[in-house]
Amino acid sequence: MCGIVGYIGNRDAYPILIKGLHRLEYRGYDSAGVALLDQDLKVYKKAGKVSGLENFVKDIPLKGTAGMGHTRWATHGAPSDRNSHPHSSGNRKLTIIHNGIIENYATLKEALIEKGHEFKSDTDTEVLIHLVENIQEETKLGLKEAVRIALTQVIGAYAIVIMSSEEPDLLIAARKGSPMVIGVGKGEYFIASDATPIVEYTKNVIYLNDNEIAIISRNNLLIKSIDNVVQTPYVHELELKLEMLEKGGFDHFMMKEIYEQPRSIRDCMRGRIYPQQGRVQLGGLKEYAEKLKNIDRIIIVACGTSWHAGLVGEYLIEEYGRVPVEVEYASEFRYRNPIISEKDLVIAISQSGETADTMAALELAKDKGATIFGICNVVGASIPRITDAGVYTHAGPEIGVASTKAFTAQVTVLTLIALYIAQIKGTVSQSKLITLLTELNEIPDLIEQALKHNEEIKTIAAKFKDARNFLFLGRGSAFPVALEGALKLKEISYIHAEGYPAAEMKHGPIALIDEEMPVVFIATKHSSYEKVISNIQEVKARRGQVIAIVTEGDTEVKKMADYVIEIPQTDEAFLPLLATIPLQLLAYHIALMRGCNVDQPRNLAKSVTVE
Ligand code: AGP
Repeated sequence: MCGIVGYIGNRDAYPILIKGLHRLEYRGYDSAGVALLDQDLKVYKKAGKVSGLENFVKDIPLKGTAGMGHTRWATHGAPSDRNSHPHSSGNRKLTIIHNGIIENYATLKEALIEKGHEFKSDTDTEVLIHLVENIQEETKLGLKEAVRIALTQVIGAYAIVIMSSEEPDLLIAARKGSPMVIGVGKGEYFIASDATPIVEYTKNVIYLNDNEIAIISRNNLLIKSIDNVVQTPYVHELELKLEMLEKGGFDHFMMKEIYEQPRSIRDCMRGRIYPQQGRVQLGGLKEYAEKLKNIDRIIIVACGTSWHAGLVGEYLIEEYGRVPVEVEYASEFRYRNPIISEKDLVIAISQSGETADTMAALELAKDKGATIFGICNVVGASIPRITDAGVYTHAGPEIGVASTKAFTAQVTVLTLIALYIAQIKGTVSQSKLITLLTELNEIPDLIEQALKHNEEIKTIAAKFKDARNFLFLGRGSAFPVALEGALKLKEISYIHAEGYPAAEMKHGPIALIDEEMPVVFIATKHSSYEKVISNIQEVKARRGQVIAIVTEGDTEVKKMADYVIEIPQTDEAFLPLLATIPLQLLAYHIALMRGCNVDQPRNLAKSVTVE
């Protein structure tokens, strides 16, 4: 999903735009471009990374105190110079950047071609700026009204910024489905897909709502709905700090975020657990305590890593809260016509809070009368703004595309929700709650210990960096951890990897095992330990290479496995929080040794704001 940034004020726009694009590059890195409005409108764009664009314009005088910038994740039209944004109208007087998908672009394009419009790219976005141009030609309306009318004809998702060389003190921004933040300065305004490009200039931001248009000049901001009703925006103060967006001495954001997990989990639990009293407090859900007591069913909707966190939540909420839980891929749930009633609670899990499929699944549940909660990591994102209640993960900004600290923070929140429901329903005794919360409170320290095995894991990674396939196996709540380990390896090293319930092997996948197949087992001393040992023996009998995550001091598995990675002992409930750490590090080191870009893996983007 693309990153968009805009500026209008009295400073040189280019340095602000290019810095903003670097901050947003985790949203897409297929091409980059800027447009600057000075005497006239100048557009510079190039396929590839933002650094490529900087190189492309390095000898050009870049003037203008208004402008826009875009970094792309390609949907319509392959990554290329001509499909890069910004796109211009036929008369070259208008230019646009866009994050989202115009679903009816082909129909609109056909009509415009009949009117003589010619297109330079394969994108849906270029059609929108030609539509605005056409409305201006036919109606002689100014930019803001022409854009509003054009948007009433568009089907799909968008966050756009439009400029005209004929109205130099004007930026038009609008959103529907895709995120947009406006930074309020003195005599200047900043626009971006999220707050990361804005925080160094102002802490005052407005989160534009769906179907809103912002009409921005240097000394004025007017927000209207698409049907022309003036809106009164709410100005939020950002909690985000600039240093949170830096690598802090690490080579990669991913490694920084892996090592931030002791802190992020402490922040996630702060003010929410009271181990001595055996009490959990979730202020964001307090109003729904009575509802939670009598809830019939919980449905968790999510995508990718967040879906894996949901699977861990299923084990914990059923174990401690004694409420039936179903975990759904949001993209399937939204089109399956699921049976939902007002007696149901639907929980959406999303790091970014902008994932289109998860938002649509949530809106479907809302329409069918369910109570909807959110678990999210970005304050002010779309999902927290449409839910009835929720819990922030407080993991801090996650820049690496491969989710790490957000996953363990999501699992921590789900653990808190499970114990909160148990507390409300009395399904777990006070003394058990004290024991569990005391152990949970130690998890950040135990993660510090697990991180100490980084060098050993690096050595193991070197042995398997050329593997073509990997299998990850676990039982119980370690099964979703196996899935997460496989996903981390797939998305940053491009090695094909699969996660499976260990017992499932016999029903097919064991056919894949030979001396070439590395198999990672989560084999810690918990309820299914003996069963996992038999599964390891089945794999060793077929000469598979076994890497086992074991409990410190384990001797049994050590005798069978080719490599072992120790993690500290903890209650089975908290195993996913510890066992994930070595799998994150293994994926990181293998990807690095294969020369992959671990922070910006190919074909991926941090938040998927289109279907
Ligand atoms: C995970 O590493 C990936 N970045 C991806 O699977 C991600 O978890 C998924 O796109 C969901 O994103 P969300 O949590 O922001 O909704």
